[in-house]
Amino acid sequence: MLRAEKGKRARLQNIPVCDEIDPTMKVGTSPVAQPPVGILLPDRQGDMSPRIAAYLVSHDFSDPCLVIDVDIVEHNYVSLTRALPLANVFYAVKASPADDIVRRLADLGSNFDAASLTEIDLCLRHGVSPTRISFGNTIKKKTDIARAYNLGVRMFAFDSDEELEKIANVAPGARVYCRILVQCDGAEWPLSRKFGCEPDMALRLLCKAQRLGLDAYGVSFHVGSQQTDLSQWDRALQRVSSLFADAHHLGVDLRMINLGGGMPARYRANVRPAEDYAAAIMDALMKHFGPALPEIIIEPGRSIAGDAGVIQAEVVLISRKSDNDTVRWVYLDIGKFSGLAETMDESIKYRFLTPSDGGKTGPVVLAGPTCDSADILYEKTQYELPLDLRIGDKVQILSTGAYTSTYSSVSFNGFAPLQTICI
Ligand SMILES: Cc1ncc(COP(=O)(O)O)c(C=O)c1O
Repeated sequence: MLRAEKGKRARLQNIPVCDEIDPTMKVGTSPVAQPPVGILLPDRQGDMSPRIAAYLVSHDFSDPCLVIDVDIVEHNYVSLTRALPLANVFYAVKASPADDIVRRLADLGSNFDAASLTEIDLCLRHGVSPTRISFGNTIKKKTDIARAYNLGVRMFAFDSDEELEKIANVAPGARVYCRILVQCDGAEWPLSRKFGCEPDMALRLLCKAQRLGLDAYGVSFHVGSQQTDLSQWDRALQRVSSLFADAHHLGVDLRMINLGGGMPARYRANVRPAEDYAAAIMDALMKHFGPALPEIIIEPGRSIAGDAGVIQAEVVLISRKSDNDTVRWVYLDIGKFSGLAETMDESIKYRFLTPSDGGKTGPVVLAGPTCDSADILYEKTQYELPLDLRIGDKVQILSTGAYTSTYSSVSFNGFAPLQTICI
């Protein structure tokens, strides 16, 4: 059911003003803007926003479409800055690089974590000062580092000798931070061993950074995306605190910890609110660093944009594999190659709304429309959809505001890339 009625029931909530943030802790120069007094919120975190519900009732789409409620993005940002006021937020642009999201967050005073020159250009186009941008990818072309530096970006991530040398070469005096390996247990979208290095190597590299004339600024980690185990930040920060102490003994005074992302959106399972994550992080910081904290950076992506988006899709085919099969195959006009890439290994488990919700349900396999057998969304994970579901029905896929539109292929099998509409 489209939740238009739910929208009518939605309450107007007053979002209090951001807590004051110590201005000496801010990387950027923009003041923290005041959030508006009222944002229409869904009844529960991750349900459809009343504004999106109203929008979908009054608009018809022939192709799948992602609708993002930018007010919810703002709400998520403000909730996080209130819960963790001492952290400088660097929105991870990769999660959802829509112009309206970047513009709104820039107005709210956010900083930005960019993975590429394109993302840097996007932020600059929206008036973000380059001093509020971190080039956070540990894998960068030397020419891109040079261009970013010439554009005024001064903060760069690295996790290897080779990357550090590139930065020292073309970005003299830049602030650099080293990403360390941490466990990603508990993450539904782990970031594995591709990024980061062991702390003893990070120590050597940070000393080398100082010798190369760079500003050995700090350390970063990422506990894995959609992290459900709050203790992972404690484990990671224990590694970071030893690294800080060892670096100090070697004459390198690190000043910044980048906590990465990891905070969740709400998919099938309930998740803890931002406040619980903030409390766990604060406890871990106090335990390992005491009250004299270094500068703290956080790079949320999924938790800012995920719950702000809904994809409207259509049922293309409902069929069975044998005459007495109890399981229906439900093929949608969206799949792994048109935005739902995070269903790889059935990792991210989205929630679906249909026009027949509330009626009797039966088991389904959910798949996309392309001629590729990898284009199955859920086969092992148990999903049930109403028995009254029909070909041509519109379905809504909730909490799809992050890591969807940008994963959509250019034209696999001739299907158009996922369109994004911000409201
Ligand atoms: C360097 C970096 N920072 C932040 C993020 C955002 O993480 P999340 O979406 O879990 O908040 C990512 C995600 O891949 C990342 O690679």
